[in-house]
Parts: sequence; C-alpha cells; structure tokens
Amino acid sequence: MKRIVESELMKKEEDKDYSGLVKNNSRAQTVMYRDIVRFLTNEKEPKNVLDIGCGEGTLLKKISKIFPKATLIGIDESREMVKKAKEEGVAKILNSSLEEYPLENKFEMILCNLVLHHQENPEKFITDATNHLTKEGILIINDLVRPKSREALEMRLKERRKNLGHYGKITEEIARKSCQSALAKEELQRLISKIKNSRINFYDEDWFERTLIVIKS
Ligand SMILES: C[S@@+](CC[C@H](N)C(=O)[O-])C[C@H]1O[C@@H](n2cnc3c(N)ncnc32)[C@H](O)[C@@H]1O
Repeated sequence: MKRIVESELMKKEEDKDYSGLVKNNSRAQTVMYRDIVRFLTNEKEPKNVLDIGCGEGTLLKKISKIFPKATLIGIDESREMVKKAKEEGVAKILNSSLEEYPLENKFEMILCNLVLHHQENPEKFITDATNHLTKEGILIINDLVRPKSREALEMRLKERRKNLGHYGKITEEIARKSCQSALAKEELQRLISKIKNSRINFYDEDWFERTLIVIKS
C-alpha cells in the first residue's frame, strides 16, 4: 500500500474525537501508550524531558508519574492541542513545531509518540530531534507501521471495532489515514539502519502493528 502523508494539523472536529478516544476509553489508552510506558519504567530518571508533538499532554501526564522529579516540556505545532495540554498542568507547554524550536534547548530524554507518521520527511525529522539531545541523551519514537495492503488495513480496523466498540466514523477515519501515512516496516528498518546507536523493535499483538525506536547520542 502506497504511503499517503497526513501532514496537516488536526482539524477541530477530529481533535474532539481524538480527545474522546484517548480520554474516555481505557482500552484504547492502554494500547496507544503501552509500549512507550513499558519502556520508560525501566529507564533511569532523566533531568529533563521533551515531548515533541505532545498533543493534549496525555503522555506527559504519564511521564510525570514515572519521573516525578524530571522537568517536562511539551511542544506542539497545533494551537488547539497546546491549549488542552496546558490544562493538564504537568509540564511547560509551547506552541512550536520541532523545526522552529531553538536548537540551544537540549534534553536528556526526548519522546515522540504518534508524530513520525505525520512527517513529509521522517529522516530530517529524526535528525532534527536528535540535535536536541544532550551528550548522553536518548530519543524514543513510538509510532504505527503501515500495513502491506489496503485489505490488511481494513482487517485491522474491523478487529479494532470489535475490541473498542463503535467510536464514530471520524475516529475510524483518523486511524485509517494515520496507518496510510505511517512508514512500512522495511522503510523504517532502512531508515534506522543508517543511524548510529539506534535500535528498532516491532510490536504486533493488537489491532495495529507498531514500532518503538530508540536512538542514543
Ligand atoms: C497523533 S497526535 C499525537 C499526540 C501525542 N503525542 C499523543 O501521544 O497523544 C500528533 C501530534 O503531533 C503534532 N505534530 C506533528 N508534526 C509536528 C512537528 N513537526 N512539530 C511539532 N508538533 C508536531 C500534531 O500537531 C499533533 O498534535
């Protein structure tokens, strides 16, 4: 299946539905954040953490519980998302894209959950993110993997509907577009093989195949 990049900012209507999906459904919550939360619980507490594309701040809220002493910063290019993230009150939230964020800001840990698939140029995005790491910093990227075919994607969506119940046409359409926009397994492997001190894992025990990428500076 060909990649169709979904790079535009989330629309207001979609925001509402995304928010509903994440906030009101504990099963969706668990799956969307499971791999990254599991990884973080085994990591040493960093001094400072940057969440790129923090959305409504859901991941930052979880991080604040795992690393209660760390200074947390979230950036997002969507004004709508930033407004909601600020309401969580667990981190300093800035309305900025990664590309605009000043390079002098360095972090021991950088997270990026469900953001890579929005990027026109994922390789540049990863390089830009890595440039914000301190000397011994760690970048963690969690995202979807694009299924091989349209049929495979529709099967996954059907499975998801069975598990989650009906969450409206908009959320299903977001999931469909996000999967079409994600990188395929081989594309991810090729991309990561070019980066020093990196490793990539794939997870596929649920509705969508996902990837967890770890890059050390
Ligand atoms: C699918 S949401 C994920 C939100 C959040 N990370 C989470 O796990 O709930 C993707 C978010 O990334 C933001 N985003 C996409 N590209 C970005 C970039 N280059 N710089 C900053 N934010 C970006 C979008 O505005 C959107 O809020």
